[in-house]
Amino acid sequence: MGKSLHGKVAIVTGASSGIGLSAAQKLAARGCKVALVARTKNKLEEAASLIGADKAAAFPADVADFSALANLPKTVIERFGGLDILVNNAGLNHRGALLDLTAEQAVEVITVNLSAPIFLTRVCAEHIRSGGAIVNVASLAGMVPVFHEASYSASKAGLRAFSRVIAEELRERDITVATVCPGPVDTPFFGEIERVPDLVFSQPMSTADEVADAVIKCIDEGTGEIAMPYFSGKLATIGYLLPPLARKLRPILEKRGAENKRRYIEKKRSGM
Ligand SMILES: NC(=O)c1ccc[n+]([C@@H]2O[C@H](COP(=O)([O-])OP(=O)(O)OC[C@H]3O[C@@H](n4cnc5c(N)ncnc54)[C@H](OP(=O)(O)O)[C@@H]3O)[C@@H](O)[C@H]2O)c1
Repeated sequence: MGKSLHGKVAIVTGASSGIGLSAAQKLAARGCKVALVARTKNKLEEAASLIGADKAAAFPADVADFSALANLPKTVIERFGGLDILVNNAGLNHRGALLDLTAEQAVEVITVNLSAPIFLTRVCAEHIRSGGAIVNVASLAGMVPVFHEASYSASKAGLRAFSRVIAEELRERDITVATVCPGPVDTPFFGEIERVPDLVFSQPMSTADEVADAVIKCIDEGTGEIAMPYFSGKLATIGYLLPPLARKLRPILEKRGAENKRRYIEKKRSGM
């Protein structure tokens, strides 16, 4: 158990599913009041009643709608009496080569994954109380760019860079800023699995709970960045530093990923 989170107030974006839902549940279990943010109102309300109406409430919003985000901290403070934690987790991916996407799709990924966390961090930071924390959910794709995921990789690399600088700026207000960079995570985020690059499946799959544990660890310990699984993080760093080696390794990793993906699809089809 880390520091006491009892009575703290958290905003979690993308809280209706996967990593965000699990992080919201874990924060509530530690005594936080949690503002759940996502677009789908009924899913958020389900999540809020699952967590408990005294511990969580739905704040439906599209994070790409900056006018909605601008009012969010004030609305949450009115409801829960303060603000201590922000988890920027909502995310989007349009998969495929750049020329297979529209210009709007290519830039929407940046709006949701990078501009929105920057906007929300800016409007929340001045309200977050001393001792608070911001955690941004990025990706291994932000550590080493993934082929056919140009905008997504750029959005997550940008989010890591933003977090690093803001961590320094907010230190004087006693607010920690951290990033979690997961590899593949077993959530609905994959969408149409056939369209996910084989390379993504070359790394061991994490669960949403494991990634949410990393989010909580960042809040507890002020850890700057957690890449997971551990060895995948190291491999991503090597791949980023040595692009020719990454190019050489890619066919080997893609072969392994194709096999893992085939098994994952079978597992999903058999309902396991
Ligand atoms: N799953 C992976 O393999 C993986 C790997 C690395 C990093 N990540 C990152 O982890 C984060 C969470 O993903 P997940 O795996 O937990 O996916 P998920 O289960 O699909 O959850 C995504 C969440 O984001 C919300 N969301 C999406 N677009 C939104 C928008 N414009 N405004 C507000 N909320 C929005 C969704 O709710 P609504 O649709 O109702 O809005 C949902 O609550 C993302 O940032 C993703 O990039 C995931």
